[in-house]
Amino acid sequence: MDLINLFDYEAAARRRLDPMACDYYASGAHDEITLAENHAAYDRLRLRYRVLRGVGDRDLAASLCGARLSMPIVAAPTAFQRMAHPDGELATARACGEAGTAMMLSTLSTAPLEAVTAATDGPVWFQLYVYRDRPTTVELVARAEAAGCSALVVTVDAPLLGVRERDVRNRFHLPEGLALENLTADGMRAMPRAEEGSGLAAYAASLLDPDLDWDDVAWLRSITALPVLLKGIVHPEDARLAVEHGASGIVVSNHGGRQLDTAVATVEALPEVAEAVDGRIPVLVDGGIRRGTDVVKALALGADAVAVGRPVLWGLAVEGEAGVSRVLEILREELDLALALCGCRGPGEVGRDLVTGGPGSAL
Ligand code: FNR
Ligand code: LAC
Repeated sequence: MDLINLFDYEAAARRRLDPMACDYYASGAHDEITLAENHAAYDRLRLRYRVLRGVGDRDLAASLCGARLSMPIVAAPTAFQRMAHPDGELATARACGEAGTAMMLSTLSTAPLEAVTAATDGPVWFQLYVYRDRPTTVELVARAEAAGCSALVVTVDAPLLGVRERDVRNRFHLPEGLALENLTADGMRAMPRAEEGSGLAAYAASLLDPDLDWDDVAWLRSITALPVLLKGIVHPEDARLAVEHGASGIVVSNHGGRQLDTAVATVEALPEVAEAVDGRIPVLVDGGIRRGTDVVKALALGADAVAVGRPVLWGLAVEGEAGVSRVLEILREELDLALALCGCRGPGEVGRDLVTGGPGSAL
């Protein structure tokens, strides 16, 4: 079968992946209402395209966090990529670099961060989970900085891990031979099968810090020269606080529907968040982006760029680096077409007026 869109990649990946890994990648929290809503909310929006604007000469490039990207689409951080393909995070880094875009690398990577940054000339932004053990956290940040990561993306929507019921039933754990390669202590590198429930939930509950608060943003800024972005914001008041606390950017995210179920779809949270930020720092958004038109809608509603999570994993599972490259190229081609058909020559020409609410939309 020809794989011509991101849904084809998902279907092909699901056929190939080990069931426990597939469930982990695909899952959302509880009833998976937010998981479904993230994409469904894009489908409810309608584009009011413009015509006769001479769109023969188009350029998708975007500047973000000091990096010049070939398009306003980056890879969201996702854990345990070697469950999808032996090359895991290294393949993703190469594909993102080749595509001229950035990769956000998870703390919970199955390849060491130094090897990931060495695999690409492109920007790698390190996603940070703050460990209760602060020396471990400080060391992770120092290593990311030393290895050439150009931003720190602190995930703030996971004081505790959401319950993904498929992981509970599968007693999700890392397969034999894989480890959390960014960690050095034995007890932090391994994620074995738990007595009951998800091994990841047990790992997070025992090792990650649920007490993180706004003061820790200042602390994190004090231990690194890197720009600090906060990932997991949906409330405009938190966006305002992020700016006040010196964040260099935010990612409007509900963790791909994996944390608080029935949380608002990110594209529906985006307009108010963007309004609160008021252009002071870059705003990224992730969750449910599967089509070029989704990207246009996100840009119209105030995002500077978008991130994609699961589609990268599907590409990886289907054909490693080549699969990730293809997924990114498909999105690029769809975005290019959508921009042209909207009368825009580039992301900078996408205005709020292009989007209107369709049936059932809150807009
Ligand atoms: C994630 N996500 C995530 N986020 C993060 O900050 N650190 C992490 O380690 C992970 N790990 C992770 C694993 C898997 C399998 C998924 C699906 C997601 C969340 C991720 O960065 C992003 O917010 C969502 O995936 C975006 O939604 P889509 O594009 O997957 O719909
Ligand atoms: C997840 C964590 C690792 O969503 O962020 O599975």
